[in-house]
Amino acid sequence: MEKLTGGKAESPRETWLLTGGAGYIGAHVAESLAGAGKRVVVVDDLSTGLASRVPAGAELVTCSVLDTEQLTDVMRRFQVDGVIHLAAKKAVDESVSQPLHYYHQNVRGTASVLEAMSSAGVRRLVFSSSAAVYGVPPAGPVTESTPTAPINPYGATKLICEWLVRDAAPALDLSWISLRYFNVAGAGRPDLGDPGATNLLQLTLQALTRGARPQVFGQSHPTPDGTCIRDYIHVADLADAHLAAVRQLDRPDSPELHDVYNVGCGRGASVLEVLRTVQRVTGIRRPYEIAPARPVDPPDVVADPARIQAELGWSAKHDLDSMVSSAWAAWQHAAVVTVSAGTGSHP
Ligand code: WQD
Repeated sequence: MEKLTGGKAESPRETWLLTGGAGYIGAHVAESLAGAGKRVVVVDDLSTGLASRVPAGAELVTCSVLDTEQLTDVMRRFQVDGVIHLAAKKAVDESVSQPLHYYHQNVRGTASVLEAMSSAGVRRLVFSSSAAVYGVPPAGPVTESTPTAPINPYGATKLICEWLVRDAAPALDLSWISLRYFNVAGAGRPDLGDPGATNLLQLTLQALTRGARPQVFGQSHPTPDGTCIRDYIHVADLADAHLAAVRQLDRPDSPELHDVYNVGCGRGASVLEVLRTVQRVTGIRRPYEIAPARPVDPPDVVADPARIQAELGWSAKHDLDSMVSSAWAAWQHAAVVTVSAGTGSHP
């Protein structure tokens, strides 16, 4: 039975299963889908995710993506229409020291999700990929046709998972969209901040709140100010990109889809620009220190978002100031929460 809302016939609420939906990005995606009227089922092993982040009304099943049997049961029990597979290990440095763990969790985890979807007859997939598949791209905006050449095990697992999805799709009659995230930052709400401190913005906030000096990994890169340039994207915008992909897959007339999209804002910011923004937003002024450059660190990675704009109608709405101010608000929120909880710690 179709229900009419706002003059537009809406199909019955589709049910989407989010693996890793209790994580930093996953919780924002869950909020975005629930807000758009989708029924959300979160599967998360809570190894890094938090049950408190799962939106009200969403189901939470605590389960590893490697447990194919339980995944299949959940998909059948909730009559899932589609899956957004977010659950993965994503720390570049950790992937270098623990490559087998990353291949196990990310590649075997994706295979397990695909096997469960095949058994349960679920035929729509949004896959969480990464700009890390490009490695060190040639100069200029990165398009979906830019050669993929990952430079670390993390990026390699993401590319292999894309191939896994692409190659399994015909046999599983799967429509899929892979989203290549650029550099994610910010928080949609103070309680949904990034709990880790592994990326530039979080490490800078950590340094400043600990009275330490933010570090700049090299100031001799081939860029205008000598520091690396990245395409930072607000996590709330990233969540909406998933909703745009879901809507494309949920369209009753949607042809069989198999597409890859860069998810970035198309504007670059250097490390020094990020640090200046952090100092302006937080009011904390402390000199940075130049640390040795990383062994391999792409000098300039900025998306060309033309394809996702044209085909999914999505574009980023938040700027760097919004990312930094929302991350700062989340950082302060977490600090208050940890102090009131008596742990007094912060990442
Ligand atoms: C950004 C720039 C550093 C910290 C990440 C991960 C992964 C992926 C892509 C989704 C780099 C420099 C950093 C610091 C610094 N996203 N830096 N001082 O390396 O682009 O990769 O984004 O899958 O999350 O692969 O992000 O935030 O670590 O570094 O100068 O204290 O900031 O050298 O040039 P990166 P990052």
